[in-house]
Amino acid sequence: MARPARVFTVAIDGPAAAGKGTVARALAARFGLGHLDTGLLYRAVAAKGGDPVAAARDLVAADLERDDLRTLAAGQAASRVAVIPQVRAALVAFQRRFARREGGAVLDGRDIGTVICPEAEVKLYVTASPEVRAHRRWLELGGDEAEVLAEVLARDARDIGRAAAPLAAAADAVVLDTSVMTIDEAVAEAERIVGAALV
Ligand code: CDP
Repeated sequence: MARPARVFTVAIDGPAAAGKGTVARALAARFGLGHLDTGLLYRAVAAKGGDPVAAARDLVAADLERDDLRTLAAGQAASRVAVIPQVRAALVAFQRRFARREGGAVLDGRDIGTVICPEAEVKLYVTASPEVRAHRRWLELGGDEAEVLAEVLARDARDIGRAAAPLAAAADAVVLDTSVMTIDEAVAEAERIVGAALV
């Protein structure tokens, strides 16, 4: 199996609960890449409370270990602090360094292929219909499925509509629509694309 000895970035973007994390973790394991779930940074900033700009500037690894970061409420709160340009700016350098580390990295988020690492060797845009995404998140978190769908739609609207680094597919991203494929098929296709870029 090819494992890059050099700088090699896989940028994965897409809307809420599209399967980005699953694809990213599978690629990291398969090719021995570092993995950064950048959504966790925004979730942790919001969870710290207080001034979000100060929280982003002072973020430390332990802040990412909290066990309340995966809830629906934490996702909503993350998308509220993520519209603040100074919050985003405070998190750029860390993400860029991670992206270009020796040995390669996969990052998943909303702006990786467009803003954080436009020079990424592979860019994937993982998406699915809102109903399919809400169903998957509901299987993970439980609760009321209609409420999960409403949360996903509200977050998509905020992420797509913001002025600072809005969610968008990079012009050179490969789109994986996981409403018409299983997650296993999406992972297999992503592995094929990354494997081809490594030879
Ligand atoms: O896992 P899921 O796709 O539901 O969300 P996430 O990736 O953990 O991201 C949570 C929120 O953080 C998103 O709705 C965005 O508002 C924000 N985010 C962002 O603005 N930029 C990123 N690179 C990653 C996340």
